Amino acid sequence: VVGGLSGLWVCPACRAALGALPPEPEGLRCPGCDASYPRLGGIPLLLADAASIQDQWRRQLASFVVETEAAERYLWAELVLPERVPSTRRRLRRVAEAMPEHRRSVLELFAEVGLEPTGPGTADASLLDYVTLIHRDYGWGAEADEVTPALDQLLGTLPPRFQLGTTLVLGAGSGRLAWDLAARFPSTQPVVALDLNPLPLLVTQRLLRGRPVELYELPGHPRSADQAAVRRLLDAPAPRPPGLELLIADGLSPPFCSASFDTVVTPWFLDQVPADLALFLPEVARLLRPGGAWLHTGPFVYGPAHTRPAHRYGQDEFFELAQQSGFEITTSTYDAAPYLCSPLSTQGRKETVLSMHAIKGQPAVTDSEPAWLAVDYDGPIPRPHVSDARALPLPILTSILELIDGTRRATDITRVLLARGELADDGNAEVVVRGCLRVLWKAAG
Ligand SMILES: C[S@@+](CC[C@H](N)C(=O)[O-])C[C@H]1O[C@@H](n2cnc3c(N)ncnc32)[C@H](O)[C@@H]1O
Repeated sequence: VVGGLSGLWVCPACRAALGALPPEPEGLRCPGCDASYPRLGGIPLLLADAASIQDQWRRQLASFVVETEAAERYLWAELVLPERVPSTRRRLRRVAEAMPEHRRSVLELFAEVGLEPTGPGTADASLLDYVTLIHRDYGWGAEADEVTPALDQLLGTLPPRFQLGTTLVLGAGSGRLAWDLAARFPSTQPVVALDLNPLPLLVTQRLLRGRPVELYELPGHPRSADQAAVRRLLDAPAPRPPGLELLIADGLSPPFCSASFDTVVTPWFLDQVPADLALFLPEVARLLRPGGAWLHTGPFVYGPAHTRPAHRYGQDEFFELAQQSGFEITTSTYDAAPYLCSPLSTQGRKETVLSMHAIKGQPAVTDSEPAWLAVDYDGPIPRPHVSDARALPLPILTSILELIDGTRRATDITRVLLARGELADDGNAEVVVRGCLRVLWKAAG
């Protein structure tokens, strides 16, 4: 399957093409900048700072050990206090007794891929942020099935005879939606579940290999003492679909060439992650081939800490921004759904969730910019009338202006500049040229 992605990968550091990924367990070396990318238990780790990220994870594991040991000591100290009623003692004992096993099962997942707790620890505890999602995806089953209705909602937006093709799922979490989609539309074309957080993907990798995973669920607000710590045996939902691949990478800067995918899926990702999704939707469009499908699902729940009020878009704004980025929305539904209502917890959310199918067309041409400045424009560049070429602030602008003859495309101009050595061959040359074209157009008034 990884072979199916050959030629699509780019180096996350320098954006040079990476070619084919070598078979497991080898990592990858960038021919452009010599950066190396390891695999984590078979999962490619394509992050520009792969080594320091792994150090951070080791330090987060060290903090996890310290914190769970402290919690355990605290719980034992609390439960012996004379004023505790028997059921409170039972609850505290249950969690205290679960702690060592909880620690062991999390650490074992990481130890298996060579990551041990090391170093001074860190205040960043994000490694375990999404454990409840893992339980929802592979643990709750029919007891609290939030997965099937969400999948059905999304499938309901797809046109007849829909095929996934080569697919990227951004912020896939534990990859359950990717797994279900790949099983529903079986093909040997790759379906890549990409996430930045290793824990959910390590769980999924084990399940894909047919090995069971046991993990404690520790709800913050249990319904009863017996539900304060429950050890769950996590289950694969279906046999491994042929195309499913896991990838640790930054979904905000996916390491793939433009137009690599037939389908891009953004499940519960866009409102949570980019600082301003208006700036990220063109990236979703970039990843898709013309006519490719964008499947989106999620509410509009923004983190106030990192999202300015102007960027907390609702559904109507989202549609407008999608259209501006060149998408034609074919079908959508916007319905209430339960979210993380654990069968053990007194707490859960209800969200209004948008499920949507859209097609990549041409980005809207705004009044102020001509069509030939669009990122996907592949036709001849008309010559802008710059009155004083000597006043241009950079020599590269003068070179580009001279090369615009009314027939050359941006790619042709880039090729000439690369051949002359006027631009670095770092994978970004055409982006630079297109940026310069915009400067020239502005200079022409
Ligand atoms: C709300 S969860 C949704 C997970 C999954 N899509 C689901 O529906 O259950 C958001 C996910 O985005 C991931 N994430 C956050 N920032 C990311 C980034 N820059 N690149 C890739 N994934 C990211 C988190 O690790 C988490 O798995």
